[in-house]
Amino acid sequence: MAGDTSKKDEPPDWYAAGLEHAWPPYAQMKTAAPPLPVVRTQGSRIVLADGRVLIDGIASWWTACHGYNQSHIRHAVAKQLKQMPHVMFGGLAHEPALTLARRLATLLPGDLSRVFFSDSGSVAVEVALKMAAQYWINRGVKRRSQFVAFKGGYHGDTTGAMAVSDAEGGMHALFAGLLPQQHIVDLPDNDERAAALDKLLAELGDTIAAIIVEPLVQGAGGMKFHDAAVLKRLRVLADKYDTLLIFDEVFTGFGRTGTLFACEAAGVAPDIIALSKALTGGTLPLAATVATRKVFDAFWSDDPKKALMHGPSYMANALGCAAANASLDLFESEPRLQQVAAIASALLQDMAPCRGMPGVKDVRVQGAIGVVEMEHIDDLDALRARFVEQGVFVRPFGTIIYLTPAFSITPDELKTLTDAVVNVVRSINS
Ligand SMILES: Cc1ncc(COP(=O)(O)O)c(C=O)c1O
Repeated sequence: MAGDTSKKDEPPDWYAAGLEHAWPPYAQMKTAAPPLPVVRTQGSRIVLADGRVLIDGIASWWTACHGYNQSHIRHAVAKQLKQMPHVMFGGLAHEPALTLARRLATLLPGDLSRVFFSDSGSVAVEVALKMAAQYWINRGVKRRSQFVAFKGGYHGDTTGAMAVSDAEGGMHALFAGLLPQQHIVDLPDNDERAAALDKLLAELGDTIAAIIVEPLVQGAGGMKFHDAAVLKRLRVLADKYDTLLIFDEVFTGFGRTGTLFACEAAGVAPDIIALSKALTGGTLPLAATVATRKVFDAFWSDDPKKALMHGPSYMANALGCAAANASLDLFESEPRLQQVAAIASALLQDMAPCRGMPGVKDVRVQGAIGVVEMEHIDDLDALRARFVEQGVFVRPFGTIIYLTPAFSITPDELKTLTDAVVNVVRSINS
């Protein structure tokens, strides 16, 4: 069914009747192309209401790492649905959540061992920031309430997460008046920048609660890569200035960059890590903020004021936790990291023809992330439509055309995606 792009029907009734009541993400609704009505997914394929089938190049914003409708996850969720879809986590605990907490603690590096569950990547970051700020308050250090974050970074769309994102790359330039001002600086990706960050941290003294970074790949801010040395430098600087280090692995976690967690490539562990997206294999919204023993110990007290006052209604949702446990089973039973390595080789080889094409600034690959950066893209909607014509779903943004497929994608499907990228890039300036 791949590549079947022939239209068969008019849009279904539910589409016409509901579209004017739905508010889509990141879109100027007046001018944006209307969304494509989807009726089914399977593996790496999206079936549209009119019968067309698209190969999915981005796995639903990097969540569906095992492909859609993965049977092991579906069965685990169906079983959990019969038994208990959800119960509040305040004063109650359940097996899927505690099992997942134990498994994450075992898999994560260092002594990241206390798991706080929430429901989205943005909230996982909010919780990480709140945890870091209160860590210092609980220890009687009142001034450490600010954050150092990086240009090109993106940490989510909630207020705290916006404040530590690069305003331009993070799409939040309008809100300068609303957001608490943080220190958004250059990544220490060379000696000079490392020295500048060292100097800044010395000047800021005991005002910094934590440094927050997306390890190895700054995703939504432009799919920019940096090497593991950056993370090592950040660990050294955080220790030197006695501040906490937060890794936002909402995008990179669960294999995307080639190791289960991106920070493994650097052999360093943060004090707090934020996880979401592929945590449930793209089936249900769930997130986790995981703290080390050192951070947790600052909250362990007879004083009720030292408790972390946070608790989303759907925290540790049992369906989400069942999906996440099933997803972890698949990382154990299926050769996911080998698949990522194979995808990386195929992306490198098959996107290489884009290098040197007119208008192409860079072609780069890290794990199962393939990027063609253009000098500029004039009409994103037109470009997105050209991909659909090629039988694939790919969603360029800014100057970036990228592929982040499911790890279970077949070689033929992946070739369809890379061919589409090469064809579309070739057509842009021809
Ligand atoms: C690194 C990073 N952090 C946080 C977020 C926010 O996650 P969510 O969209 O689930 O709120 C994203 C989303 O793209 C992300 O890439």
